[in-house]
Amino acid sequence: MANTAKPSTSAQRIADAVKSLLPAGLHQPLRRVWRRIYSLAQDVPERWLYVRLWLYRLSGRSYLRWYADTLDGWVESRDPAFLARKRAVLETSGVEDLELLKSFGMRRDSTLHEFGCGQLRSALHFAEFLDPGKFSANDASKGRIDLGLDLFGDRLNPRNPKLIVNFDNSFDWLGGRKFDFLWCHAVFGHMPAEDVEATIGNVRKAMHAGSIFLFTHDEPRLQIPDTADEIVRVDARNWLQSFAYFQKLADKYGMVIEDVSSALKSYPSFRSHMCLAKMTLAASPR
Ligand SMILES: C[S@@+](CC[C@H](N)C(=O)[O-])C[C@H]1O[C@@H](n2cnc3c(N)ncnc32)[C@H](O)[C@@H]1O
Repeated sequence: MANTAKPSTSAQRIADAVKSLLPAGLHQPLRRVWRRIYSLAQDVPERWLYVRLWLYRLSGRSYLRWYADTLDGWVESRDPAFLARKRAVLETSGVEDLELLKSFGMRRDSTLHEFGCGQLRSALHFAEFLDPGKFSANDASKGRIDLGLDLFGDRLNPRNPKLIVNFDNSFDWLGGRKFDFLWCHAVFGHMPAEDVEATIGNVRKAMHAGSIFLFTHDEPRLQIPDTADEIVRVDARNWLQSFAYFQKLADKYGMVIEDVSSALKSYPSFRSHMCLAKMTLAASPR
């Protein structure tokens, strides 16, 4: 008969030895206590994020500052072998972001601003496609942008993209410049409602009558089938937001919004539950 016993680890051997010293009646309750301690310990990093966020709030600093500092604190190795591996994974992943924008009419001579460019995986392809001077991007995390430049600087630097580090959602850091396209991928899901609203309220400063603002979001009911909530906070720095919520913001800030999620289906690199919305300026702002 085959031996189906699991291989015994040293932790398991210690647990078995302790168990053999204790009366059988205590095994079950102690196992429950141990599971509880284990699950609390697993939650510690997440709970600590909340504690730090409240300390930031109490000291008058914004959520965005906390978020950027949190990302910047997760220092990634600059070991050449690590960078080469990461580059190999990320280098082609932004190709479909470019193809998607082209399917909405972006051409080489269009202007594009990316809001929340992260480690530049899509910026790489945007900057290489667009004519020089037509692309800019911002991110709250200088660490993400620096990592992106370490990964892709050899290809990106010759294109001289304008990369901005920002700590508010004012768009004033664009100095009044207007863009044909604005792109925001996987960013709103990391923003509290007040920041999302500020972004939707201010993005018009960077738009002209023909501008297209495309952004992704995660529809709560697609991930939590029985929810009717328009916004669901998943943990300290992740949210799901519904199209209905963005529709209300569009109405409030004089924008026209359209659900264009079906466009994502042609590009398998986008997460299957991700949604895409398109905003333009309403003819006469309210
Ligand atoms: C999940 S990453 C996505 C990065 C990039 N869009 C991509 O597709 O690879 C989210 C990025 O958004 C940035 N971010 C979040 N909120 C922001 C805000 N209010 N202003 C600027 N950047 C923000 C974060 O710093 C992070 O780099």
